[in-house]
Amino acid sequence: MKASDTKATLSFSNGGQPVDLPIYKGTLGPDVIDIRKLYAQTGMFTYDPGFMSTASCESAITYIDGDKGELLYRGYPIEQLATNCDFLETCHLLLYGELPNAGQKAKFTDTVTHHTMVNEQMQFFLRGFRRDAHPMAIMTGLVGALSAFYHDSTDITNPKHREIAAVRLIAKMPTLVAMAYKYTVGQPYMYPRNDLSYAGNFLHMMFATPCEEYKVSPVLERALDRIFILHADHEQNASTSTVRLCGSSGTNPFAAIAAGVACLWGPAHGGANEAALNMLYDIQKAGGVDKIGEFIKQVKDKNSNVKLMGFGHRVYKNYDPRAKLMQETCREVLGELGLENDPLFKLAMALEKIALEDEYFVSRKLYPNVDFYSGIVQRAIGIPVPLFTAIFALARTVGWIAQLNEMIGDPDYKIGRPRQLFEGSPKRDVKPISAR
Ligand code: ACO
Repeated sequence: MKASDTKATLSFSNGGQPVDLPIYKGTLGPDVIDIRKLYAQTGMFTYDPGFMSTASCESAITYIDGDKGELLYRGYPIEQLATNCDFLETCHLLLYGELPNAGQKAKFTDTVTHHTMVNEQMQFFLRGFRRDAHPMAIMTGLVGALSAFYHDSTDITNPKHREIAAVRLIAKMPTLVAMAYKYTVGQPYMYPRNDLSYAGNFLHMMFATPCEEYKVSPVLERALDRIFILHADHEQNASTSTVRLCGSSGTNPFAAIAAGVACLWGPAHGGANEAALNMLYDIQKAGGVDKIGEFIKQVKDKNSNVKLMGFGHRVYKNYDPRAKLMQETCREVLGELGLENDPLFKLAMALEKIALEDEYFVSRKLYPNVDFYSGIVQRAIGIPVPLFTAIFALARTVGWIAQLNEMIGDPDYKIGRPRQLFEGSPKRDVKPISAR
């Protein structure tokens, strides 16, 4: 961390002793005020539920400029990565800090490819779930269960263990997501195929059956690969912070990633792609484009609790760059499948146009986020709506594990332990039950 010459001085209106706090500069983004010694110096904590102004860690992985609508993985703009690289190159970049050269790419791809099978006993674990279980319920269980199978990679203090756990997680997530899907539709699990790409293999495990040959469509393969790249990391979002906090206790990486899966499930986070598509279905059912005005009115009514799902973001106060790329992919996929006139896509475009011109959304800087279009793409590929968030989890696994390994590799890391402003009862005595 590079200390600035300027210091922040905290003064108190009651004449208490002012304290100087160091300021650090990152390579990009706002400076931070170091308050680690604040409690020792003043006996006070800071209060910031929701982390509105708090940097929870140092990181060199992903940078977002929310005002500009810019997203960089290890310095590279997401637009360049999505256009010039594939998902496994992006994984290499996030994990090791650099894009691979041809030899490194071949080696990394080979390693990931040769870790895609899961222990055969996973099938029996799956059988314990009801057939109508939500895929995220299944994924939370399956990912946590991996720790019971790989005792040789659960020691997070060992860098070799951390690396192999990262590879295993990236390699096995598609297999687990496809298994969760096949289980719910009652079809046989399809084993991974090593001659296919990461995205191609996932399509094969999802949609092939043992009865006939399945041909991977290059357009759909590329679209899925792009979905994976766009969701690969997003700095200190809720699920990543969950993974860091969970992992900070020294728990094994599979357990920490399972915590991330659980957090991602919520509709304010990864569950938004499912919620966005369901919202489009509801508007469609109610009458389609003609009903947009009525729907927007409900969204603006504070008492309705209706939100425009796939809109708004804690960090982006501009168009989410991933949403632009996803809209482009959406057109490509619908074109490939002959669905150019897809009513949901038309509805989404009309809704976006109206919202972007509406004072409510303009004044709050609410723009489409990545989830606004990703659901339409996934639905067109044939992915059922409840599986959307599981696919997000698959893609985000690399970000989670890269961030977890970065934290554990930092010699200064400590268990995460926030403080609180206590507003409950002061100390009191227990009365005998007859006197309560
Ligand atoms: N629809 C309608 N109003 C909204 C929306 C929305 N989607 N998002 C925010 N607002 C309003 C809020 O009501 C608030 O209005 P107010 O100032 O009048 O009270 C204002 O905009 C600011 O929003 P906050 O909720 O304070 O912003 P916050 O940063 O806490 O929330 C969040 C961000 C959770 C993403 C929110 O925008 C949201 O719920 N969006 C819909 C769900 C969604 O798409 N989530 C996906 C996020 S991206 C991802 O995880 C990949």
